[in-house]
Amino acid sequence: MNRIRHDGPLIVGGGLAGLSAALAAAPRKVLVVTPAPLLEACSSAWAQGGVAAALSDADAPALHAADTVAAGAGLVDAKATRALTEDGRATVEWLAALGAPFDRDAGGGFAVSLEAAHSRARVARVGGDGAGRAILSALVMAVRASAHVEVWEDGRLRGLLRDETGRVRGVLIARAGGLVEVTASAVVLATGGAGGLYGQTTTPAALLGEGLALAWRAGAEIVDPEFVQFHPTAIDVGLDPMPLATEALRGEGARLIDRDGAFLLGAAPDADLQPRDVVARAVHAARAEGRGAFLDARAAIGEEFPHAFPTVFAACMRAGLDPRVSPIPVAAAAHYHMGGIAAGPDGRTTLPGLFAVGECAATGVHGANRLASNSLLEAAAFGRRTGRAAAGEGGIGGSTSPVANPPDMEADDLQNLRETMSADVGVVRDAAGLQRALALISTLEVRAPGALPLIAARLIAEGALARRESRGGHFRRDYPATADAARHTRLSLNVAAPALLVTA
Ligand code: SIN
Repeated sequence: MNRIRHDGPLIVGGGLAGLSAALAAAPRKVLVVTPAPLLEACSSAWAQGGVAAALSDADAPALHAADTVAAGAGLVDAKATRALTEDGRATVEWLAALGAPFDRDAGGGFAVSLEAAHSRARVARVGGDGAGRAILSALVMAVRASAHVEVWEDGRLRGLLRDETGRVRGVLIARAGGLVEVTASAVVLATGGAGGLYGQTTTPAALLGEGLALAWRAGAEIVDPEFVQFHPTAIDVGLDPMPLATEALRGEGARLIDRDGAFLLGAAPDADLQPRDVVARAVHAARAEGRGAFLDARAAIGEEFPHAFPTVFAACMRAGLDPRVSPIPVAAAAHYHMGGIAAGPDGRTTLPGLFAVGECAATGVHGANRLASNSLLEAAAFGRRTGRAAAGEGGIGGSTSPVANPPDMEADDLQNLRETMSADVGVVRDAAGLQRALALISTLEVRAPGALPLIAARLIAEGALARRESRGGHFRRDYPATADAARHTRLSLNVAAPALLVTA
């Protein structure tokens, strides 16, 4: 086993959250470890919508915060949300200063558009639907030009190293056919979400909740893992992962219809801009009833499509579908994990030495249902806060306990898990389906004991089974009502699995 001491923060993940943290940790030396070259295999590069922030004269951070709280269905943390929304303008300006080419209005300000459940137009976009890739490209250039950051683009996280007090002291990385233990002054998990656990997903399939699973195994508190957001307009053209048709299309007037042209959510002009969970369930129901679900952009966007939404247009055309003349077939697909590793806006988790930021973290700003385009803001704003906090951690060393390298799952078993997660832990859930999924997870655990995707899937399914109500992105057909009191699910390894500690 190779052993390396890194005198500074070590960041696992090269998406927007990880790279924002890396830049903000200067002048400390930072090591960023990602399993794939930067810009590949991270969700932020795929984001189409943009960065939500109060940028127009008609808007204010308090209005943005109020919309975030309303969308989150009772489980949004007001303090964290205030921090997030007040960071909005400065974060967009920081990204622009790094070279992110945001769309501009005639006066040179940020052009902003409307997305579902926002009371104001506040999503700063890039090239129509290319925000994620363009913003991340600017950060990648900045990181590559920064002397304080070293990047390993071929390292896969396999374990967390802890000392005898439980403090996280480093990571176990698989690299170049071997294993290497890297000790560091702080470990930042920016490992992304868990969409790859689902057969129908808009996220990179490699995102299997492995950071979440390792944090759980190390004893970090996990919050609300059952809250998975399903995007209503994943393009259903037989691809895995499914290309996304951004919500901004509906913001521009595209409509959801069934095979006969009937509106899925009614004829009101803003009917399709209801919260994402409501729209996702309508799409799911129409498909389950055999009516099909389609996004019709012919009238609202028509000939403007190729330059207004080039990413979506290209995805459709690659599949032989011209969205100027045909409605786009859509399905609800796993898109974002609201639950995750409990963390503050500065990334601190319940474990000393361990930070979490971006989609793998649960900072309280998404609650039960994330407001569209808040995640890129969170990744950059809280990424910067996390980088600064992690840079303040001193000291490396201390003896660490050996960590086992968990097995990978067989491809067929992983596919079986993914299909089951979409069918039974998906848009519509009930006790029978959740128990079926947990039984499959138990069977697969025998074949790959300790496999990280199975731990992550179990956390989501156990959380969903324990939550006997419907709230935000979690809908139980056997418990369709929302409980009067909003409570978090908090899971900790100290509580013998599968028992859950559910506290307010
Ligand atoms: C979208 O563009 O519809 C996705 C934006 C988001 O998920 O925040």
